[in-house]
Amino acid sequence: MYLQKLTLVNFKNISQADLAFSRKLNCFVGGNGAGKTNIIDAIHYLSMCKSAFNLTDGQSVMHGCDFFVAEGQYVLGEDRRENICCGFRRNGGKTLKRNGKEYEKLSEHIGLLPVVLVSPADTSLIHESGDERRRYLNTLLSQLDREYLSSLIRYNHVLAERNRLLKQAIPPEAGELLEVLDEQLVRFGNILYEKRKALIEKLTPVAEKYYAVLSDDRETIGLSYKSDLNDMPFGETLRNARERDRVLQHTTTGIHRDDIRMSIGGHALRKYGSQGQQKSFLVALRLAQFEIIFSECGYKPLLLLDDIFDKLDMQRVERLIRLVSDQRFGQIFITDSNKVRLDLILGNIEREYKLFNVENGTIREEQA
Ligand SMILES: Nc1ncnc2c1ncn2[C@@H]1O[C@H](COP(=O)(O)OP(=O)(O)OP(=O)(O)O)[C@@H](O)[C@H]1O
Ligand SMILES: [Mg+2]
Repeated sequence: MYLQKLTLVNFKNISQADLAFSRKLNCFVGGNGAGKTNIIDAIHYLSMCKSAFNLTDGQSVMHGCDFFVAEGQYVLGEDRRENICCGFRRNGGKTLKRNGKEYEKLSEHIGLLPVVLVSPADTSLIHESGDERRRYLNTLLSQLDREYLSSLIRYNHVLAERNRLLKQAIPPEAGELLEVLDEQLVRFGNILYEKRKALIEKLTPVAEKYYAVLSDDRETIGLSYKSDLNDMPFGETLRNARERDRVLQHTTTGIHRDDIRMSIGGHALRKYGSQGQQKSFLVALRLAQFEIIFSECGYKPLLLLDDIFDKLDMQRVERLIRLVSDQRFGQIFITDSNKVRLDLILGNIEREYKLFNVENGTIREEQA
């Protein structure tokens, strides 16, 4: 699968762009604030219907304008083409069209055109609260699995209902309602738990393998799934926590408290990993994600590598480039603010590529 053409209008600082891509490697080079990450985010939009950086749709509209449009022409296999058009209007909301036909629900689109993004913002996965890591699991599993996304939506709905009930002074008859809600929470919670657990079990050895390549076997990493449900069935933990939940007026146990433990050499990555080691970990994790998506959905996700070389030493950069130049990866988008470094890297690879200069929201293909 690859993105053949991208058209943007009023997307952040890009007022107008019409780009034709290489099916292999595409590089964007330009100074800070030029608009490189914005292009990456537009590509993310077309797959995930939203910004990769927790921005609202309105924040992606160019200042002073009232709409944006992002349109992509995709080629899937021999003669299957998909045209995806995402538009947002400040007073009219968001629409997403596939080959001219509007989706009823945006969630139907998720998973059609998988992407894997490696971004400097990934460090929040290591440093922020469990929310970030759950968001990571949710985003990845939603791309892989329809049932996951629908169960998640329903779990969150029941959870909100339950928390509302806990906030009211509970009359005895509300106990029955709580029973009903608990039953549903357990049903959807168990589905999510099993899928998260299976995913982390699959991701771990692959991420370890990629980390070993990047670090030349210098260090080992670990990943594990932390969940209240690891030790006890969900129904039981809910029953045990019921009194506490009543006092605290919210649901204190469940998969909405899950987390992922990340370690290097057996110690917490957040505390003991150097910046380059943390970056390498995140890259390995994302590449593992790529491999899992490929094996589950049968085609290669677009690989978006934003500012990928930041924090990595030259050996790791080289190993990384060798790794992603491998045939097993499909279409790749790379950004870098350092033209000298990028030229050096491109000079050393066999792959066909296109190079784009980005300056103040204007993107020009550099002719070889
Ligand atoms: N809604 C918007 N309207 C207009 N400009 C915007 C909007 N949102 C962001 N920008 C501008 O986009 C620019 C940032 O673009 P981007 O993040 O793509 O830069 P970059 O090329 O990736 O830079 P760096 O090398 O620092 O990562 C900033 O100048 C910012 O002000
Ligand atoms: Mg950037």
